[in-house]
Amino acid sequence: MRDVNQFTLTEAVKNSFKTEEGSRFKLLLEGLIDHLHDYTREMQLTHKEWMRVLTFLYDCGKISTPERHEFILLSDVLGWSALVDMINTRGGATEGSNLGPFYLENSPNKKLGADLAGERQGALVLVYGTVRHTLGKPLAGAIVDTWQADGSGTYPIQEQERGQDKYDLRGVFETDDQGRYYYTTVLPKPYTVPDDGPVGDLLRAGARHNWRAAHLHFMLRAKGMRTNVTELFFENTEYIDNDAVFGVRRSLIAKVEPYKADKAGNLPLERKPDAMLKFDFVMAPEG
Ligand code: BEZ
Ligand code: FE
Repeated sequence: MRDVNQFTLTEAVKNSFKTEEGSRFKLLLEGLIDHLHDYTREMQLTHKEWMRVLTFLYDCGKISTPERHEFILLSDVLGWSALVDMINTRGGATEGSNLGPFYLENSPNKKLGADLAGERQGALVLVYGTVRHTLGKPLAGAIVDTWQADGSGTYPIQEQERGQDKYDLRGVFETDDQGRYYYTTVLPKPYTVPDDGPVGDLLRAGARHNWRAAHLHFMLRAKGMRTNVTELFFENTEYIDNDAVFGVRRSLIAKVEPYKADKAGNLPLERKPDAMLKFDFVMAPEG
């Protein structure tokens, strides 16, 4: 490997790995080496620039904790998370969007029609619709796992030291025999992603803000179907066209309307809402 130069180096590095022929690992690793070397040649990267990137990644690692994963945030603000979501959305299924850092396993099971808002101020909104197979049939017994920020843009999990229950404003619902889900809640407000670390510096260097458009999070699970992680946004709300993590898709923007019991199908609800928002989810079969 003595006669190596900036052009033959790439093959030499790829060949140094004895990876299984035809394996996915080989494909991913070699693709990464190709793109990284191409980028470096194209940009004619200087030592200073190369070290700046490595220091940035080091700083991302340094500030990360089990609760704060700066690399995921980096992926989010670079649109990488959104790209992975887009690539992995199956035709006809509800488009995927950010999981975000506030998902909790084992959220409380709630009965259809339950209220998540409790004592919170603000208009009570009925969130309702169906979960269907891409072929159209309603999915009975599908799990609708939802979590959200409150009317001031805060997740209760962020306010535990102020006595909030981390499982508040979340619930796991099971669709009925018509594939329906329904519950009441308050609408969340926009909030900021953390900007006190290296990703914040990157946003500032690019004159970008750190606000997310207000959203509800969902994870949908059903037997034989691909789990779908997505978010719903609201028409005409702030940051809908410049969400800091590129989570918004046109198909995920819902319309909030005044509540009309008969229009919503006279659903049995724990509390009478002021407004309603309908969204029909579509899940693709596994595979
Ligand atoms: C969220 O949606 O909760 C979120 C997404 C990305 C970064 C921070 C928060
Ligand atoms: Fe969120």
